Amino acid sequence: MSQTSHIQYPELQGKVAVITGAGRHAGLGEAMAKRLAAEGCKVIITDIGKAAGAHMPESAIGTTDEMQKIVDDIKASGGEASSFICNVLNPDEVKAAAQFAVDTYGSLDIWVNNAGIGYLMKPILEMDVDEWDAVLNVNLRGTFLGIKFAAEKMVELGNGGKIINIGSQASKSAFAHASAYTTSKHGMNGLTRVSAQELGQYKINVNEICPNHVTTGLGAWQNSHFSEVTGKGHDKYMQDMRDRIPLGRPGLQEDTAKACAFLCSDQASYITGECMNVSGGEEYH
Ligand SMILES: NC(=O)c1ccc[n+]([C@@H]2O[C@H](COP(=O)([O-])OP(=O)(O)OC[C@H]3O[C@@H](n4cnc5c(N)ncnc54)[C@H](O)[C@@H]3O)[C@@H](O)[C@H]2O)c1
Repeated sequence: MSQTSHIQYPELQGKVAVITGAGRHAGLGEAMAKRLAAEGCKVIITDIGKAAGAHMPESAIGTTDEMQKIVDDIKASGGEASSFICNVLNPDEVKAAAQFAVDTYGSLDIWVNNAGIGYLMKPILEMDVDEWDAVLNVNLRGTFLGIKFAAEKMVELGNGGKIINIGSQASKSAFAHASAYTTSKHGMNGLTRVSAQELGQYKINVNEICPNHVTTGLGAWQNSHFSEVTGKGHDKYMQDMRDRIPLGRPGLQEDTAKACAFLCSDQASYITGECMNVSGGEEYH
C-alpha cells in the first residue's frame, strides 16, 4: 500500500514526532507511530530497549529488536523513522530524545507520552511500596519529564507544538487492584490541564487520550490476570467486557492512533487541556 494513501491531514507532512514507550510490538505506541508516519510525519520510536530491574522485565518492555522492527516497517511503507533509547525516568535521556529530534530531523512538533506500566496490579493490602513507586514514576513522573523537556524545546524553536498524553479509562474511573495505575492516570488529567494552561501562550496544545481496554502486550497480560482474579476464565471475562461496551467491542490500537492523528492535526487546533475518551461509550465523563 502506498504511503500517500493514508494521508488525511496534509498539514502533518514533515512534522517531527517523538513517541515514548513505542518500542513494543502491538502496542499503542507502535500504532500511533505508524499512523503518524503514514500522515507524513518523521517519527522517533523511543523506549528503554532492555530489561531494567524486577519491575521492567524483558517480557513487558520494548526491546531494541522490537524498536528496530517498527522503524523498518515504517521505512518499508515509505515513511521516515528512527529509534532512540530513552528511559522516561531519566531526565537526561528525555532531554536527549528532544535534542535527537532536532539534530536528526530539524524540529520537534509532536511529543506523545505513551510509556506506561499497567502490569503491577494487586489489592492495596498486598501491594509493595516499591511497586507503587514504579507505576507512579513511569506513568506520572515520566509524563511530567516528557512534557517539560518537549515543551522546553518547542518553546525554543518557536513553532508551537502538540503534546499528547496517553491516559486510560482509569483516568476517569476506579479499578480494583489498580490503585497505583488509577492514581497515576487520574493525576495525568491534572497534569494535562495545568500544562495546557501554562503552554497555550506558546501555541502548544496538550491533550490526553483515555482508551478503554486494548489487547496489546500489556492488555493481554491484564486479560489473563483479571480472568484469573475474577474466576471467570478468559472467554467469559472477554464476553462480559464486550457486553458492557455500548459499541460492542474492546478498543483497537488503531482507535487510539486515529485520535492521536486528529489531536495533532489542524482540525483540533482549538482543543487543549482535554482528556478525551476513546472507549466505545464505556466511559462517558
Ligand atoms: N492496553 C490497554 O488496554 C491500555 C488502555 C488504556 C491506556 N493504556 C496506556 O497506553 C500506554 C501504552 O500501553 P500498551 O497497552 O501499548 O502497552 P505496552 O506494554 O505495549 O507499552 C508500554 C511501553 O512502555 C514502555 N516503558 C515502560 N517503562 C518505561 C520507561 N521507564 N521508559 C520508557 N518506556 C517505558 C515499555 O517498554 C512498553 O514499550 C500506557 O501508558 C498504558 O497505560 C493502555
